[in-house]
Amino acid sequence: MRNKTLTLTEDEIALYEGKLKRLSGPTLAAEIINKSINQDLFELLDYLPDSFVDLLFLDPPYNLTKAFRGHTFKQRSLEEYAVWLETWLPRLLRTLKETASVYVCGDWRSSAALHQVLEKYLIVRNRVTWEREKGRGSRVNWKNCSEDLWFCTASERYTFNAEAVKLKRRVIAPYQVAGERKGWAEEEEGRYRLTYPSNLWTDLTIPFWSMAENTDHPTQKPEKLLAKIVLASSARGDLILDPFLGSGTTSVVAKKLGRSYVGVERDLHYCCLAEKRLALAEEVKTIQGYAEEVFWERNSFPSLRHARRSAESQTLGKAPQEAMDE
Ligand SMILES: C[S@@+](CC[C@H](N)C(=O)[O-])C[C@H]1O[C@@H](n2cnc3c(N)ncnc32)[C@H](O)[C@@H]1O
Repeated sequence: MRNKTLTLTEDEIALYEGKLKRLSGPTLAAEIINKSINQDLFELLDYLPDSFVDLLFLDPPYNLTKAFRGHTFKQRSLEEYAVWLETWLPRLLRTLKETASVYVCGDWRSSAALHQVLEKYLIVRNRVTWEREKGRGSRVNWKNCSEDLWFCTASERYTFNAEAVKLKRRVIAPYQVAGERKGWAEEEEGRYRLTYPSNLWTDLTIPFWSMAENTDHPTQKPEKLLAKIVLASSARGDLILDPFLGSGTTSVVAKKLGRSYVGVERDLHYCCLAEKRLALAEEVKTIQGYAEEVFWERNSFPSLRHARRSAESQTLGKAPQEAMDE
C-alpha cells in the first residue's frame, strides 16, 4: 500500500507562507476568519477580538516532555502544569460568545489539572475518554492508550446536536421479539444499529502512513475526532478557534463541514501543512470514518459500497473517496 503522508516541497512552503497572518495589534474578526496565524499564542492573546468564537478547541502540549520541531515542552508537576494553564486559558475566554462550547484535550497526567482549572472558569459538562490505539506496550506499567476530552460550556445556553453524531455499529446478537427486530436493521452488507454516542469513544484511529490525512506532526488528532466535536457543538457557519493548531486538523474539519475557522500555530512548517490540507479540502470533503451522516465503527464502512463509490467518483472526475479500512 502507498505511503500517503503529506509532505511539503520548498515551493509549497514559499506559497503557503504567503497566506499566513501575523497580528501586531487589536484585530477584527473579519481580518482573521478562515486564516492560520503563524505566531506564538502569548504574543497575540490580547489582540484577538472579543466574543467571536462559537467553539474553542484546545489541544495544548500535554504534561509530557515532547519536542515540537525545536520547541520542547518539559514535563512538570501537576501543580506547575495547572499554573501554566492559568497563564493563558483565562485570557482566551473573552473571545467566547455566551453560547460557546470549549473542548480541551489531555491524558491521565494532565487531566486532573485541566479539570481543576476549567471548573474555575467554565461549566464542565463531561469528560469523554477515547481509545488511542497506537504505541508500544510497556513491561512495567499498563500501556497508555486512552486520552481525555473535557467538554465545557460558557453558560447554560449552548448547542448540542446528538442526532448529528450517531454511531453505526455492527449487531453481534440480533435481538428479536415476536419476529420484530429490536433497534437494528438488515442492510445490504449486514446488520447494523444506530446509537447515540456515549462519553467513551472506541471508533477512532490515530493517523498513520496509509491515511490521506497523515502528516509528520507528532501528535496529530484524527479528523474523525474533530468531526464529532464540530457536528455536536456547532452549527453551519459558526466560528471555531484552535490556538494550538498543529497540522491544521480543526480548521480542515471546520472547512469540510461548512464552519468558519481561525487557527494559531507558532511553527511555520506545521502552519504550511495546515494550509496544504486546507487547499486539498477545497476538493475532497470526505472524513475517514464518517459517511452517510453517521460515524462508523472502526473498520466497518462496507468495502463493497466504498468500492462502488470510488468507481462512481472517478467516472465523474472527482478524487476517489479514501479507503475507510483502517
Ligand atoms: C498537541 S499539538 C496540536 C496538534 C493538532 N491538534 C493536530 O491535529 O495537528 C500542540 C501544538 O501547539 C503548538 N504550540 C505550542 N505552544 C504554542 C504557543 N505558545 N503558541 C502557538 N502554538 C503553540 C505546537 O507547535 C504544536 O504543534
